[in-house]
Amino acid sequence: MSAPAGPDRFHLAGVMGFPIAHSRSPLIHNHWMEEYGLKGAYVPVAVPPENLERALRALHPLGFAGVNLTVPLKTAAMRIVDRLDPAALGIGAANTIVVDQDGTLEGRNTDAFGFVASLREAQPELDLSRGPAVVLGAGGAARAVIYGLKEAGVPEIRVTNRTVPRAQELASEFGPGVVAHSWEEREESLRGAALLVQTTSLGMQGHAPLDLRLDALPADAIVCDIVYAPRRTPLLHAAAARGNRVVEGLGMLLHQARPAFAAWFGVMPDVTLGLRTRLDESLPR
Ligand code: ATR
Repeated sequence: MSAPAGPDRFHLAGVMGFPIAHSRSPLIHNHWMEEYGLKGAYVPVAVPPENLERALRALHPLGFAGVNLTVPLKTAAMRIVDRLDPAALGIGAANTIVVDQDGTLEGRNTDAFGFVASLREAQPELDLSRGPAVVLGAGGAARAVIYGLKEAGVPEIRVTNRTVPRAQELASEFGPGVVAHSWEEREESLRGAALLVQTTSLGMQGHAPLDLRLDALPADAIVCDIVYAPRRTPLLHAAAARGNRVVEGLGMLLHQARPAFAAWFGVMPDVTLGLRTRLDESLPR
């Protein structure tokens, strides 16, 4: 038996992580539930990794449509679910679980979609096939960004990371067109780039700033930081000051939530100014 459909249905979804209190996902999804007139709730659930399998298997009997997953559960879930979508397989992490009618679990990844949708929203005339992209960092966020850029047809992706073997691993995994550079080469790698994407924790509130001179970056390149607290990082300030167009990290956070909501509740929600403002106001200044 699955949860009843129709007007009596209380729509349930949530986000599992450990810790989980900081998550902005409840704000986003509960906003959409209200906006689209769905009775229900999206709740934060603290689940330590050792309880993940039992927690996921409990979703169907509890009537949950699914959950989002955050650190440190995104990779652990890969081994538990019954199916994975191509993005989760390619990125190596699942940020969304969809519970099917028969109780089987599908792991999906919406981060690459969120990143590319956010870029396209901020820069509608951007032609991603136009030139090389530089990606700073080689962690989980970089994997989603590289997957999204490859899917979108970016011809060359230069990955530069402090720990070079991690960048090399991504280059060999994501195949032709993805090239590893050392951290020392990060400024030189900007030459001729059409897009720069910052995926490390540098520049985030409470972290060291990113040390990067932008002199070699073409004036028409787009600069994107996936850090969203602060909303405008020192990198984005520096890029805007020299005339580059910039894309803030808040958009990725908002857009990655859309396909999950659609998969659970059948409505592809919009990112409105009202939602963006609410989310922005919830973030530390
Ligand atoms: P996420 O999943 O958010 O990407 P992660 O896997 O911990 O998190 O990756 C963090 C990224 O920030 C990595 O690329 C990391 O570089 P290393 O692979 O060398 O650790 C990068 N990073 C964190 N602190 C850094 C610093 N002080 N200087 C340069 N890069 C840093």
